[in-house]
Amino acid sequence: MTVRSGPVTVRVPATSANLGPGFDALGLALDFHDEITVEATGAGLSIEVLGEGQGQVPLDETHLVVRSMLAAFDLLGERPAGLRLACRNVVPHGRGLGSSAAAIVGGIVAARALVGGEDRLDDLALFQLATDLEGHPDNVAPALFGGLTISWVDGAAAATQRLDCQVPVTVFVPPTAVSTEQARGLLPETVPHGDAVFNTGRAALLVAALLHAPHRLISATEDRLHQPYRAAAMPDSYRLVRNLRVEGVPAVISGAGPTVLAFAQGIDEATPDGWARHRLDVAERGATVLLG
Ligand code: HSE
Repeated sequence: MTVRSGPVTVRVPATSANLGPGFDALGLALDFHDEITVEATGAGLSIEVLGEGQGQVPLDETHLVVRSMLAAFDLLGERPAGLRLACRNVVPHGRGLGSSAAAIVGGIVAARALVGGEDRLDDLALFQLATDLEGHPDNVAPALFGGLTISWVDGAAAATQRLDCQVPVTVFVPPTAVSTEQARGLLPETVPHGDAVFNTGRAALLVAALLHAPHRLISATEDRLHQPYRAAAMPDSYRLVRNLRVEGVPAVISGAGPTVLAFAQGIDEATPDGWARHRLDVAERGATVLLG
């Protein structure tokens, strides 16, 4: 057995997916981190959750971090007899900031580090497992690799291109959640060809705008493929996106919502009552192991 005897801590960033036109493809890691600490024990499973999700998430084998660790142990062919897990969460759940991707990526990275399994599960295989568990690659890619990511799926194989990117970000987080499942259920089976053409140009432009043409961000963040269909499920978020855009601030729904992400800081627009507001930078690094 190569199981480490000491604790392993993983810091994993929040992420924003879609970024407007890049549905299920573009993702950005944000400097806002959950931290999970795991330790091998002789038997059993103990879980402590502090912060977001405390008192709400299950404290058994169905906990998403544990499920992800167990899936990784299966691939690694090795599993400690028992586990102690502590989660210190700041990424709000059900708000479109990648909390499930953080849990999945954090769990797999922690499991790999706990059994010294880097040679048995490289980053690409880890990314594939995380994508399989999440169902799409756009949040797990930046959670694992940091920066700006363009992800796609080729058959069942997940792939991603990571890019260095620094852009100022503000997120406006509403007090109530919208589940990704619900938000995906609002999308149509087919879209008009003209809307697909519209988004193709915007998504391509957005990568250029984020890298070196910030004056293009207002045009580049337009979307017709998902945001309009989801508006009724998060009307306050849409109102805020519209108000910000009228003021010239490039604003989008973050992931499946309902958080609003603006590519700017020092924004005049007031934060709606009961919402949280965070000025964030891009996280250059994805999930990071700290051995203690
Ligand atoms: N691309 C996904 C969506 C992100 O918008 O449904 C949320 O997981």
